[in-house]
Amino acid sequence: MSETPQASVATRIRPATSADLDALWQIESTVFADSAWSRVSLAEELAAEHRSYLVLETVPEDGTAPAVWGYGGVFVVGAVGDVQTIGLLSDARGAGNGRRLMEALIAAAATRGARELFLEVRADNPVAHALYVSLGFAEIGVRPRYYQPEGVDAIVMRAELKENR
Ligand SMILES: CC(C)(COP(=O)(O)OP(=O)(O)OC[C@H]1O[C@@H](n2cnc3c(N)ncnc32)[C@H](O)[C@@H]1OP(=O)(O)O)[C@@H](O)C(=O)NCCC(=O)NCCS
Repeated sequence: MSETPQASVATRIRPATSADLDALWQIESTVFADSAWSRVSLAEELAAEHRSYLVLETVPEDGTAPAVWGYGGVFVVGAVGDVQTIGLLSDARGAGNGRRLMEALIAAAATRGARELFLEVRADNPVAHALYVSLGFAEIGVRPRYYQPEGVDAIVMRAELKENR
């Protein structure tokens, strides 16, 4: 993550709002390219019920504008939740930010009442898979050739959430 050399920065996670649409669309289209959600779908997700979308941003202490580096979302109905997405710009990866964001999403799902959480991960994404395993997700199935046109399998994973996680 690069910032101006003079400015020290803090990293924080906060709820996304509709005002974040431009920044999140930039991240979505950069990170997921051909498989990115449309801007309209992203706007609908941010506005929809039963969801918590969070952004990870750096906040320079010199008062200049925060910079959004990543975001993720969960969908919860009753006691069942689903991780809808998580993505960070490449300069923000590999420094614990993905773990922090996933932990915040899990906490948000638990606050909404989720007692179990599902997600899907591409079989060719060992970084995300390792993160999910480390957070207590276990493989429960495979959707063959789920991601098209590449024909990559989706691994379905599930975690049980503790009440005060
Ligand atoms: C997946 C993603 C959110 C992880 O965030 P991150 O900031 O890179 O990961 P972190 O630095 O928090 O590391 C968390 C764990 O991921 C795994 N990991 C991170 N970098 C890794 C690497 N280069 N190789 C293997 N595993 C890695 C490790 O298990 C790591 O835990 P550890 O540090 O205790 O070993 C991020 O890489 C990303 O946005 N990738 C592109 C989009 C994507 O794949 N989204 C997921 C779709 S299902």
